[in-house]
Amino acid sequence: MKTPKLWSGRFAGTVDELVDRVNASIDFDRRLYREDIRGSVAHVRMLARQGIIGASERDQLVDGLGQVLREIESGELAFQQKLEDIHTHVEVRLHEICGSVAGKLHTARSRNDQVALDSRLYTKRATLDLADELTTLVEALLTLAETHCDTVMPGYTHLQRAQPVSVAHHLHAYVEMFQRDLGRFADAFERMDRMPLGAGALAGTTHPIERRSVAAELRFASVTANSIDSVASRDYALELMSAAAICGAHLSRLAEEIVLWVSQEFAFAELDDSVCTGSSMMPQKKNPDLAELVRGKAGRLGGNFLALFVTLKGLPLAYNKDLQEDKEPLFDTVDHLGMCLQSMTLMLQHLRFRPERLRQALVQGFLGATDLADYLVARGVPFREAHEVIGTLVRTCIAEGLTLEELPLERFRALSPAFEASLFDALDPAQMLAARTVEGGPAPVRVAKALELSRAQLAARVSELTSWRATRLASLASFE
Ligand code: ARG
Repeated sequence: MKTPKLWSGRFAGTVDELVDRVNASIDFDRRLYREDIRGSVAHVRMLARQGIIGASERDQLVDGLGQVLREIESGELAFQQKLEDIHTHVEVRLHEICGSVAGKLHTARSRNDQVALDSRLYTKRATLDLADELTTLVEALLTLAETHCDTVMPGYTHLQRAQPVSVAHHLHAYVEMFQRDLGRFADAFERMDRMPLGAGALAGTTHPIERRSVAAELRFASVTANSIDSVASRDYALELMSAAAICGAHLSRLAEEIVLWVSQEFAFAELDDSVCTGSSMMPQKKNPDLAELVRGKAGRLGGNFLALFVTLKGLPLAYNKDLQEDKEPLFDTVDHLGMCLQSMTLMLQHLRFRPERLRQALVQGFLGATDLADYLVARGVPFREAHEVIGTLVRTCIAEGLTLEELPLERFRALSPAFEASLFDALDPAQMLAARTVEGGPAPVRVAKALELSRAQLAARVSELTSWRATRLASLASFE
């Protein structure tokens, strides 16, 4: 090769240094070296099967690619900006190792379908890795929830104490959200599992290649159906980033609740020292930084999604260099969502609820008000009228600094003769919880069943992910 550039033939003069600098993607796409080399090996083998290259050429190329892989793994191969991207680095080094036969590697291939392949191989694995982290998190949530089916806590609307729920029921709400996130990752995985190589620059190739065996070797479910779409589309990455952003939003809500719960104002829970940090100035501080960071990172996950979304919007077919901008936000999302999922799991393993504080909050917030209205309704009072009566009682209590259970029976009866001493049972927190047996409601029996069902759903998801890992991910380190 006369110059390290893969496209120097057409160019008489040298290219401005700024062009090299802006054009280069090696600083970030080096991360794709395993995918790139594995894809090249599959391509070379297919070229030989089809008689496009000879068997000994194939062996030289595959051995050479193996050596490049080892050199990158060991840090021997130095990356340099003038070699533009990972594809160029691999090919140039292969040329140094094998000589001119290296020039046959790129037969019937363009960097456009090559990068599409690398990126799909990467995204498939990243999707399963994130899904795995998420199953671990759901597992931690379920384990915590299972010990708290009878632990009453105030449920909120508008961040105002509203009605009693249990800690288990509250946590199970997140289990449901995260299970849907898992479903979104799984759906995205199914759709991204198509092999794009063979699309060439955009219009396929005149060489007698065969795509399906490459797909099989690389463990893709099938091949892409349109060569233009193969090189032009990145919605598989966008889908992962969208699912990641939604998951990030769910994580941020849970993180925010942890921040609130461990504050002195709420004091509903405690986080172990091992997952908190201190202040450099205020010796008394114990801060939930990890929760705050998980809350904060939802911003970058949403931002990453938006960055690629806007890049794709209005882009004419087929490949455009704009598409190189897909990688940094994608990698960032994969890295940071992974960290958030691990951090949340760790916090849940070190979060201790304070049942006595939760119970206290229940008494002070008039959380039995709806139950008391329902008590009157059960005795024939129309709901609107009952609502009015209880509203008046609450106002009285506030004025006199009392809770509902501290008000004497005569005061109740003065407003409605339907009240009897049994009203105080209706105000018992355990009673209030047990009475909410509606499907999807917080009664301990219901929640225990819901948690059981979630465990079963999670187990099914885990076995699906395990089988996908075994059958639908190419091993990148060895060329079996
Ligand atoms: N670095 C490029 C990317 O990430 C690889 C494909 C380059 N293709 C090309 N025709 N210049 O998209």
